Amino acid sequence: MKYFRDVEYIRLQARNNNALFANSLPMIASENVLSPLCREMLVSDFHGRYAEGTPGNRYYEGCQFFDLVEEKAMELARILFRCTYADVRPTAGTTANMAVLKALIKPGETATVLDTANGAHISFGKWGAAGVRGINLVSYPFDDALMNIDVDGAVKLIRDIKPKLALCGQSVFLFPTPLKPIADAAHEVGAAVVYDAAHVLGLIAGNRFQDPLREGADVMTGSTHKTLPGPQGGMIVSNRGTSEEDKAFLRKLGFGVFPGVTSSYHLHHVAAKAIAYAEHLDFGEAYADQIIKNAQRLAHALHDRGFKVFGEDLGFTKSHQVLVSIGPGKGKEASKTLIDSGIVTNMNMIPGDTDPINPSGLRLGTPELTRIGMKESEMDDVAVFFERALLKHETPKKIKDDVKTFRRDYQELHYCYTKGFRGYDYHPLV
Ligand SMILES: Cc1ncc(COP(=O)(O)O)c(C=O)c1O
Repeated sequence: MKYFRDVEYIRLQARNNNALFANSLPMIASENVLSPLCREMLVSDFHGRYAEGTPGNRYYEGCQFFDLVEEKAMELARILFRCTYADVRPTAGTTANMAVLKALIKPGETATVLDTANGAHISFGKWGAAGVRGINLVSYPFDDALMNIDVDGAVKLIRDIKPKLALCGQSVFLFPTPLKPIADAAHEVGAAVVYDAAHVLGLIAGNRFQDPLREGADVMTGSTHKTLPGPQGGMIVSNRGTSEEDKAFLRKLGFGVFPGVTSSYHLHHVAAKAIAYAEHLDFGEAYADQIIKNAQRLAHALHDRGFKVFGEDLGFTKSHQVLVSIGPGKGKEASKTLIDSGIVTNMNMIPGDTDPINPSGLRLGTPELTRIGMKESEMDDVAVFFERALLKHETPKKIKDDVKTFRRDYQELHYCYTKGFRGYDYHPLV
């Protein structure tokens, strides 16, 4: 029993972490809280089992019940994204991207992509999965005023350099990608189009953002734990599948996932994904709708209080995110002041930034605040907390106490089957 005190120490930190998020404003755009039915799957015996391969075609015995769950997860995912093909095995959005890059492009070949400074994720950057795959990356021009790909420039670039893949999708994602013209140009030169929906997957599934599979994307990847509020994980969907060429394309995608970048793929997470898809089919439209309304209201409220919020001419945002400019190199300091004030955010690069360690902005998200029942009027209250912390420079401790009081009424999870579940309470098993 020499190390049991360490176990108690770890459990204490887990409790502390629950309390931290129960008492603050969780506003990291990529985060969310899990419904109780999804949680139940995470502690089920699916955890720890192996199931390499596909349902009915396994390297391990004992998969008969899991096969039914994975089949159901794929079926629900196909309904949710109105598509012919869904792979629910990737263990993260990054893994999904790696699988697609493994399947569709070879080292030394060229892909077009956004720069990370303009919002792309590192998995499509030279330091991430795309770099590991040895891909030659060429950046789309970016329109700072529109906070989006410069569509004419991107179309010209694709026609000129004829990439193997046209990669789209962003981590800073305020407005839908002008996908159709980009996809048309890509298809003209024989390139496949990959849309990374990690952040906006739940908004797309809720029919409130854009519809990449109908706007020309051959493949869409995503994380299953952001605006889609499931377990941490990834997925891949596609609507190809009728011709022999399509079937070969989908076989390559599947081979990219296994044996490409997964072995066992966290079966308990797959079971939880299946439940998250069902919950999103029943509640996702209302949830996505409210997330976006809240982001728009928050952006307006911050702007009205004197913050510089990106995308003003276009209504600030059409997603779950708000991007705020804080001042040259001041993002870190601001996020630190906010956490001391009970508001959890992250510093972020904004257009023009070159140093990822000292960026000038904050990226804010409304998925979790929405999940715990906040609506537009609460966004006005949230903006006041930001004003007190960053513009009026009130004592963080005082704001933190007020945030804690404010949060008391917002502990239960919404947009899931179980009513009245307090999402931040700690539930010890032993
Ligand atoms: C656009 C984009 N793609 C991929 C990822 C990676 O997802 P994950 O954290 O699930 O690996 C992220 C993470 O935030 C992202 O923003």
